[in-house]
Amino acid sequence: MNRLVVVANRVPDPAARGATAGGLAVALQDALTRREAVWFGWSGRIAEATGGEPAETRIGRIAYTTLDLGREDHRRYYAGFSNASLWPTLHYRLGLAQFDRQDYAGYRAVNAAFADALAPRLRPDDTVWVHDFHLFPMAAELRRRGCGQRIGFFLHVPFPPAALFCALPRAEELLADLAGYDVIGLQTEDDVTNLRAALIGIGQPEAAARVAAFPIGIEAEPFAALAVKALEKRETERFRLSLVERALIIGVDRLDYTKGLPQRFCGYGQLLARFKAHRSKVTYLQVAPVSRGDVAEYRTLRRELDEWVGRINGQHAEPDWAPLRYMTRAVARPVLAGFMRMARVGLVTPLRDGMNLVAKEYVAAQDPEDPGVLVLSRFAGAVAQLPGALLVNPLDPDEIAEALDQALRMPREERQQRWQDCAVSVFRDGARAWCRDFLAALEGANDTAAEEP
Ligand code: G6P
Repeated sequence: MNRLVVVANRVPDPAARGATAGGLAVALQDALTRREAVWFGWSGRIAEATGGEPAETRIGRIAYTTLDLGREDHRRYYAGFSNASLWPTLHYRLGLAQFDRQDYAGYRAVNAAFADALAPRLRPDDTVWVHDFHLFPMAAELRRRGCGQRIGFFLHVPFPPAALFCALPRAEELLADLAGYDVIGLQTEDDVTNLRAALIGIGQPEAAARVAAFPIGIEAEPFAALAVKALEKRETERFRLSLVERALIIGVDRLDYTKGLPQRFCGYGQLLARFKAHRSKVTYLQVAPVSRGDVAEYRTLRRELDEWVGRINGQHAEPDWAPLRYMTRAVARPVLAGFMRMARVGLVTPLRDGMNLVAKEYVAAQDPEDPGVLVLSRFAGAVAQLPGALLVNPLDPDEIAEALDQALRMPREERQQRWQDCAVSVFRDGARAWCRDFLAALEGANDTAAEEP
């Protein structure tokens, strides 16, 4: 079988295996172990200058190949254009998007440097799979260096309506870059409609025809097993005892302004103020690991959330009850899975999200006999696969409060039914199937092309 070359800004730590591995690493696990593979991207290190000889660590049949980035390149490419221009724009937040020509130049320079390092390492029959918004220009850069391999792209985040995306300076160049890919995968049908319209708008109907939806999933069974196993852990038991039989609401998100955390905290405050029966009967744990602290907007959000937590606890706490527990460091997945299983409500209210795998993990972690309720933003890509969730508009704190009240009072039978309705897709449409489907489309795509006279 030919080799698979994965290109992504983040390259997993080869030592992090199984339970500690992140979403993409789990999804690709199968594909990466069944054939020879390369995972290429940033080393996570900042050096004097970008480039030099890439570092390579081989584990089994996978060669993790990474490049250091120079300080200035990293600042402009990662904190700058990727996270302060593209990220807000792709999440429909044009008002937060900044544009700086030097950031954009840095973004292109890093993509070019990646291509310089990767192109000479490619074999003619490799399949190349590029991930996410950091690397829109990668195929075009590789093509410029004579690479004729199959190259696919998957965007993990949303793609907004064409008019919105095209308001970002240089949007047309980025769209034209996408024409270099053989398959362009997105999370939802809405994203597909939007990107196709944008590509047709710049006169690229052939590229528009190569866009398709591949909604990503999780490996639900191992996650469910992790959740059951977690109940034996001391940390889980200590946490359970600390709740003193109060119902648990859980939220797990990177500390990011797309996740709707201020509105969510406000909604929880409304629950306590308006539905007094829940006072002192419920505890909300929000895990929000700090993310992208080198981008100003994220630091502002962190301060805002600190204020919210103080306000809610100050207003509603009792000497033996803190209604909101908030932590900005990460909790290990095996422990988190147990917390999710314990939670009566999973609260997932992003203002916009490509997919949101936490929603799927919450479903997988439940006890089918006595499951909790998922309260989900109607603007998360996962909505399409989770028909049993209670949907809310994440901008409306009152609606969040009402959904929380409904979830906390929901009879067991309805909870079971709603859980069933979500579990069907969560357990069936896993991460590995996602990976297989994308690769089948990518490898099939060029086979057909090759057969044409
Ligand atoms: C999102 C993006 C990923 C990114 C992750 C963490 O899920 O789609 O590409 O890796 O956030 O963000 P970070 O900036 O820490 O890589």
